[in-house]
Amino acid sequence: MVQLTLPKNSVVKKGRHHPAPAGSGRTKTFRIYRYDPDDASNPRWDTYEVDVDACGPMVLDVLIHIKNTMDSTLAFRRSCREGVCGSCAMNIGGRNTLACTHGWEEVPGKDVQISPLPHMPVVKDLVPDLTLFYAQYASIEPWLHTDTPEPQKEWIQSPEDREKLDGLYECILCACCSTSCPSYWWNQEKYLGPAALLHAYRWLIDSRDEATGERLDALEDPFKLYRCHTIMNCAQVCPKGLNPAKAIAEVKKMMMERVV
Ligand code: SF4
Ligand code: SF4
Ligand code: FES
Repeated sequence: MVQLTLPKNSVVKKGRHHPAPAGSGRTKTFRIYRYDPDDASNPRWDTYEVDVDACGPMVLDVLIHIKNTMDSTLAFRRSCREGVCGSCAMNIGGRNTLACTHGWEEVPGKDVQISPLPHMPVVKDLVPDLTLFYAQYASIEPWLHTDTPEPQKEWIQSPEDREKLDGLYECILCACCSTSCPSYWWNQEKYLGPAALLHAYRWLIDSRDEATGERLDALEDPFKLYRCHTIMNCAQVCPKGLNPAKAIAEVKKMMMERVV
């Protein structure tokens, strides 16, 4: 069973308080969204007084410390701890970002509030259900489409053409952008969202791809592409410094250019 993260935190109940262990050094309060499909007392905000002298500098270090020493029931995703896998994306201090590259001291305000990526169904605690997000990525067919017979060795690309993929290929599919986009919040079933559209553009401008027309046809729809209203939240939150809004504008330009 999954439950939708509510846009207004006020509807989430106050939860359990976990005091700092005896003998702690400096402490800081972390308010963490809790949801368990098998627990009737949720969703709720649990508070943890964390001995930050016993943790590393990143929010993920704190979450791992809480899980290891204070509350083993806390659920979150992580893998690389290097900002590469995209799995630890969550909302920290009101901003979507990666827990492994975001320092807890960077979060403004007295306490640090942590919740799952907004407007997604929640599987448990800080773990969102990304099934639709991945299906949207798959829908843009993120692989090379060619009619030309496959070369013996490799598909050659000039350094200039390869450079056109910079600012696109670095995407780690963390979903910070799509889940910060108001258009995606309200039209999630129909609008592809910034991450999938950034990847759509990555294949549209790949000099080796031979399906540009078909790819544009697939995006020619009142919702899939055109629900982007250039609000720019996506570019502001991307932890890799990418600009999905610019990629979306380029796709719209390609659409225009083929009709004139
Ligand atoms: S620029 Fe477009 S994709 Fe980015 S947040 Fe705004 S509406 Fe969403
Ligand atoms: S564009 Fe940036 S924010 Fe969006 S999924 Fe890719 S890495 Fe994450
Ligand atoms: S754990 Fe891989 S990006 Fe944070």
